Amino acid sequence: MPRTIAIAGGAGFIGIAFTYEALRHYPDDRIIVFDKLTYASDRNALLEAEKDSRFRFILGDISSSEDVNSLFKEEHPDIIVNFAAESHVDRSIESPALFMRTNAEGPAVLMAAAVKYGLERFHQISTDEVYGDLPIDSNESFTEDSPIRPSSPYAASKAAADHLALAFMRTYGLNVTITRCCNNYGTHQHSEKFIPTVIRNAIAGNPIPIYGTGKNIREWITAEDHAKAVLAVIDRGKPGEIYNIGSGIRISNLELARTILSLLGKDDSLISFTTDRKGHDRRYSISSDKIRNELGWAPEDDFLSSLWKTVRWYAG
Ligand SMILES: NC(=O)c1ccc[n+]([C@@H]2O[C@H](COP(=O)([O-])OP(=O)(O)OC[C@H]3O[C@@H](n4cnc5c(N)ncnc54)[C@H](O)[C@@H]3O)[C@@H](O)[C@H]2O)c1
Repeated sequence: MPRTIAIAGGAGFIGIAFTYEALRHYPDDRIIVFDKLTYASDRNALLEAEKDSRFRFILGDISSSEDVNSLFKEEHPDIIVNFAAESHVDRSIESPALFMRTNAEGPAVLMAAAVKYGLERFHQISTDEVYGDLPIDSNESFTEDSPIRPSSPYAASKAAADHLALAFMRTYGLNVTITRCCNNYGTHQHSEKFIPTVIRNAIAGNPIPIYGTGKNIREWITAEDHAKAVLAVIDRGKPGEIYNIGSGIRISNLELARTILSLLGKDDSLISFTTDRKGHDRRYSISSDKIRNELGWAPEDDFLSSLWKTVRWYAG
């Protein structure tokens, strides 16, 4: 029996990669993208998916009960994967209430409808940022059992959704799973984000803004590897479980900017240090032993060649 999988936020950076992976991975299922098309989305990136008769795009807001109820009444989803979010930390520092509305209230509206209409599975896309940060020189990594200590309004709003998902399972018996992934890179990301900003400025010969000393460490994975990990959790993940998704590739913002500059044949003179972000997390590092050992997932993409593909895509 073909299922209907609704991807909320499927017109955004990672949602696009997931939509194409899902169309390939579930050849018999219907794939629906439900997205509000905010400034961060890229609707044109789904034009190729439109050619598949199993695909459908629906314009809608996860925070609107009306939009969400009509999604359930008209499309009868079996599974919802929720990528929809406001995703830019700097914007969350300016507009925290918008982040709570989209990132916490939105999932609550989706899950309330999921309970009402009897959804098979609700999968919440979370982030490693919910754990907060580690000292720069730490060798530790966060596990799924680490306490939640978000630093930014963005991370706090994502943490709220994680708590809500687990509460919906306990209170209403909704079948939920959660994944917490590290930083993603790849095509179709909005130009305000770090890697597109570095590439764009490097190509134009403009200063490349780096917060503080540039020593902050992030763990990087391709959007495709993230998407495949989410598919593994949908297929084999256990109800109520949280899975970290990490690559083990940990690099400082400065080193990453330098690597991109060298891929573009440019020197470091364009790097320009700026006033640090408020509350800037120092080091992210997650253990993804659980998903690797229990579900048999592992990242496939090589860092330098994937970064080079990404650089070439933005360079046009
Ligand atoms: N980008 C990363 O490095 C990263 C890392 C870990 C987790 N995540 C999580 O992955 C998810 C996707 O991130 P992204 O980088 O692709 O974000 P993005 O900002 O590129 O895309 C978000 C998408 O959600 C849609 N959207 C926003 N508000 C909506 C609403 N109210 N209703 C319906 N759709 C709405 C937007 O139109 C957009 O298409 C987010 O939940 C984010 O927290 C991102």
